[in-house]
Amino acid sequence: MRVVAVMNYKGGVGKTTLTANLGAVAAARGLKVLLLDLDPQTNLTFSFYSVEDWQDRLKDDRTIKRWYEGDMPGRDVPLGDLIVTPERVNKLLDDTGGRLDLISSHLGLIDIDLELAAKLGGTTIGSSKRKFLDLHGCLRNALQDSQFQDYDLVLVDCAPNFGLVTKTAIVACEQILVPAKADYLSTLGLDYLYGNCASLVQEFNDYANHGGGTEEHWPIEPSFLGVVFTMVQIYSQQVTLAQHGYIEEVRLNSRVPVLENKVRNSPRHFGDAGESGIPAMMRASAAKDEVVREFDRLADEVLGALELTGGAR
Ligand SMILES: Nc1ncnc2c1ncn2[C@@H]1O[C@H](COP(=O)(O)OP(=O)(O)O)[C@@H](O)[C@H]1O
Ligand SMILES: [Mg+2]
Repeated sequence: MRVVAVMNYKGGVGKTTLTANLGAVAAARGLKVLLLDLDPQTNLTFSFYSVEDWQDRLKDDRTIKRWYEGDMPGRDVPLGDLIVTPERVNKLLDDTGGRLDLISSHLGLIDIDLELAAKLGGTTIGSSKRKFLDLHGCLRNALQDSQFQDYDLVLVDCAPNFGLVTKTAIVACEQILVPAKADYLSTLGLDYLYGNCASLVQEFNDYANHGGGTEEHWPIEPSFLGVVFTMVQIYSQQVTLAQHGYIEEVRLNSRVPVLENKVRNSPRHFGDAGESGIPAMMRASAAKDEVVREFDRLADEVLGALELTGGAR
């Protein structure tokens, strides 16, 4: 099982679109994929379920909000109980051996995030370190459960912030994938993101080493799989000069590596954010145009880096 957090402080950079499509392509290649929607905006969930279906079937007791709420995440309900298998997309996976499961989100996760942060602290240094480890490590611990070992890939769609819920995803993951637009503000934040993740990892491991880190799956060492440039403008088969400049700037000067492959701007493919319940790259697979082939190469690169190339193709 490989756990990848998809994150960026900025919203609207294509995180959810990338998560849904990468998950779908991986599943179509025969992999067992779990998508975890940790963004209260719930867009990843609505890429697979209509709002009505979510309200009727998931909202009350099958969202990640239920897992994070309560005294300590997971105390009221095991994470595995929240897994759902969206029908429409899985019907298309019948012949592939792949599967695409989801744990859905909920708008109320915003409040839970704040409540969780308020639980940090303790009466002694020892107990506050323990609390820190338990809270930040909660998702990592839950994913050790044997039922998750069946998954080849877990993709976590994070909220555009560095709240406690996002931090649990960083602690849980092995790799971080950072979708970004090739513009000034998006590229500016990348080193800041890198620094904040590095500080979190260091703090967690310091506490784990000195504060009773008995768990065998500590210390943690998530690394940056890289930046995926999204919504890239291509004219005459070339990235526009301005965007090329931003991409080169990150490639040369940022501590976050840059993936070779990009997602181009294509409202025709990605504009409706999966309204049909089937991510665009899966819908389009019958007619492989340049955008689909490009996305396939990105999937090759990401899954290759994760050593997940064994699926049926
Ligand atoms: N490659 C793309 N080309 C065109 N539109 C895109 C592309 N990727 C995402 N979009 C659109 O941009 C908006 C933001 O994308 P989204 O994936 O929801 O971003 P985030 O999760 O980072 O907030 C959505 O309306 C989505 O349909
Ligand atoms: Mg999103």
